[in-house]
Amino acid sequence: MERSSLSDPLEPHGATRRAFIRGIAAAGASTAAAVALDRSGVLDLSTRTAAAQTPNAFSDFRAVAPSSEDVLRVPDGFRADVMIGYGDPFANGNETLRYGYNNDFLAFFPLPAGSANAGEGLLFVNHEYPSPRFIHGQTDPTRKTLQQIDLERDAVGNSIVHVRREADGRWRVVSPSPFNRRITARGPALQFTGPLAANPGYPGVGTEAVGSLANCSGGITPWGTALSCEENYQDYPETGPGGFGWIPGTVGTSDYVNGDGRTGPAKYGWVCEHDPYRDRLVDSHAGRKHTALGRFRHENAAFRAGSGRRFVLYMGDDRNGGGVYKFVSTRAHVPGDRAANLQILTEGTLHVARWEPTGRRTFDAGGTLVSARAGVGTWREVAESELVDTHRLIRAAVGAAEWDAHFATNRPEDLEVDEDGTVYIALTNDAEVNDVHGAVRRLRESGNDPTAVGPDSPFIWEDYAAGGPTGSRETGREGFSSPDNLVFDKGGNLWVVTDIASSALNDPSRPQAFHRNNAVFMIPRTGQNAGVAFRFANMPVQAEGTGPYFTPDETTLFLNVQHPGEESTTSGDGSPGSFDGVTSYWPRGNKTAGVGTAQPLPSTVAISRVPQAGSPGSAPVVPAPAVPVAAPVARRPGAARRRRDRTRPGIAVVAERRQSLRLLFGRGVPIVFRMNEPGRLTVTLVGRLTTRRRGRRVRGKLRRLAHGTVRVRRAGEVTVRLRPRAALRLLLRRERNVPAVLTVTAVDRAGNRTTRKRALLFR
Ligand code: FEO
Ligand code: CA
Ligand code: CA
Repeated sequence: MERSSLSDPLEPHGATRRAFIRGIAAAGASTAAAVALDRSGVLDLSTRTAAAQTPNAFSDFRAVAPSSEDVLRVPDGFRADVMIGYGDPFANGNETLRYGYNNDFLAFFPLPAGSANAGEGLLFVNHEYPSPRFIHGQTDPTRKTLQQIDLERDAVGNSIVHVRREADGRWRVVSPSPFNRRITARGPALQFTGPLAANPGYPGVGTEAVGSLANCSGGITPWGTALSCEENYQDYPETGPGGFGWIPGTVGTSDYVNGDGRTGPAKYGWVCEHDPYRDRLVDSHAGRKHTALGRFRHENAAFRAGSGRRFVLYMGDDRNGGGVYKFVSTRAHVPGDRAANLQILTEGTLHVARWEPTGRRTFDAGGTLVSARAGVGTWREVAESELVDTHRLIRAAVGAAEWDAHFATNRPEDLEVDEDGTVYIALTNDAEVNDVHGAVRRLRESGNDPTAVGPDSPFIWEDYAAGGPTGSRETGREGFSSPDNLVFDKGGNLWVVTDIASSALNDPSRPQAFHRNNAVFMIPRTGQNAGVAFRFANMPVQAEGTGPYFTPDETTLFLNVQHPGEESTTSGDGSPGSFDGVTSYWPRGNKTAGVGTAQPLPSTVAISRVPQAGSPGSAPVVPAPAVPVAAPVARRPGAARRRRDRTRPGIAVVAERRQSLRLLFGRGVPIVFRMNEPGRLTVTLVGRLTTRRRGRRVRGKLRRLAHGTVRVRRAGEVTVRLRPRAALRLLLRRERNVPAVLTVTAVDRAGNRTTRKRALLFR
């Protein structure tokens, strides 16, 4: 029996994502996707910290302090730009697609160098679950209409979004693009593969499933595909609290029912594989669901691979007491043979980790750790008959006591493989064993061989970084809680996002109170700050940062902001009082500052360094603070009065580009202006409505939607509500997108004028 210490130097074996993709390059990969991945260095994820030793774009930052504010904040010297959010249109040809809700996993697939799209890429994004409150307003799962459920079905699944960085430094969506695509819970069909596909013993699995749902985190493969993990699939047919009520009586299909595969449907809860390049570059294979990887609450998937070796995929089952799994393929991985590699996940053996002395981090009622911090373990084979409902069937087979003692862990969220082969596991927290703050665990295989299984090949493990307050008074070093997604950067630093439950955030009576909002941390693993978690970014109110992913050159970090305002109790649909219980206005407004009243929108953000803090058009905060009011012009002594009279009034418009169409035809859209002296404001809103020509909707002419004058008695902020006339409001109800221009003219008491224009989009 070989045992080695985690602190030993690890021999290279096989490859991690990074080394493996270099291997593809050396072997002269032939497919466009593999070439793209090779050039991307998708494995070369990341950065260094304030104390990191290898300089790059993210290597040096001043950590931010914990905050409860309703903003996304990154350190000074970086910019954060919202690229796309829930409901935003993006097109494939003439087909308009809508970005889904609750973006979670995210991967950047570069388009090939030498192609017309060199330097651009495809974002593959998961949309984990819908928000009935914000999507249509009906929160009772037993009272939804089919139309409302269809809105929810369209809001989950995946988006493939073509993006590029433009000359002004901003990443933007390329639309229309033949790469742009959606997968939803209504389609297209995904094919089942593996031992349970089209297996008469499992008629509830069958040959295909309608679309995908509960897509939490995921992973990539070296052959250029994305893996999307279906996690909390059990919620969809439920009609109790937390359920979505997608039941046969309403939706007309039993596919969403959570069956056992033999007597009822088992269509969701799988790992799905998608080819993001499909439309143009590679082939036309549809998404697939791999039954060989088991059916459980899949969080993500992280691989180890080597040329000519069997392929290994590590996965977690995110539930209290859930297990850690690894799949070992039957086929060897052959770099460059994409057709063969696309079959790798269809055949192999699944295993579950058995931990000694115990798998769970257990605390007593006083919060003292009473379980081991390190140990050994082995891999137990999962029988084919256990794949369809993996957790339940293994637990039944080994017995609850054995499971709880040796297989259970504290909610495994992301797993990531370091370049040296060590597997890092985010154990987020687990109320059943008083684990409030969670930990990051690491595991090293016997002989550093990822295919090692069985009692003679034990792995070793230790808990590497524990959550909880550090007691440090240094800004940004206060500690983290509830680790979720992980990512390594090129320098080997570990980036961690946190997922403290929205209901527990900022509650002074809870132990997570020190943390304030959820955040992003970087943990250097070498140097004098090794093991210290530095706070890099704060999330808005009740949001969770998900899917952190670096571009190949590590100049941009893509990040998803999921479920802002999750604890809201009203819908913010524009009806009277509907914003009273909305807890976040992000990203269009800032509830803490009381500006930009709007429904919160889960959105995808690009974070990058700016040449210098305060560069034009860049801000480390979303939403950006209001444009500063123009400073008074300097005056020469003796010329004060005359010059002041000639000074034009300072006026700023505080409004995000995207605005609520529903508010426009409802009770009106509030727009905030700031004026630096008393005077008069004239506000005009001109928008372009659609019209019908031979039955088709076409762009119509510009119309004046709202106009008015307001007297400003004191310098400062004034809110003007734009509300069209009744006849226009009726027309606006039929619109879906109204581009508009807001013109405001400020006139001071001396008659000096300043005019500002702002483009708005009502949707
Ligand atoms: Fe969807 Fe386990 O987070
Ligand atoms: Ca997660
Ligand atoms: Ca989570």
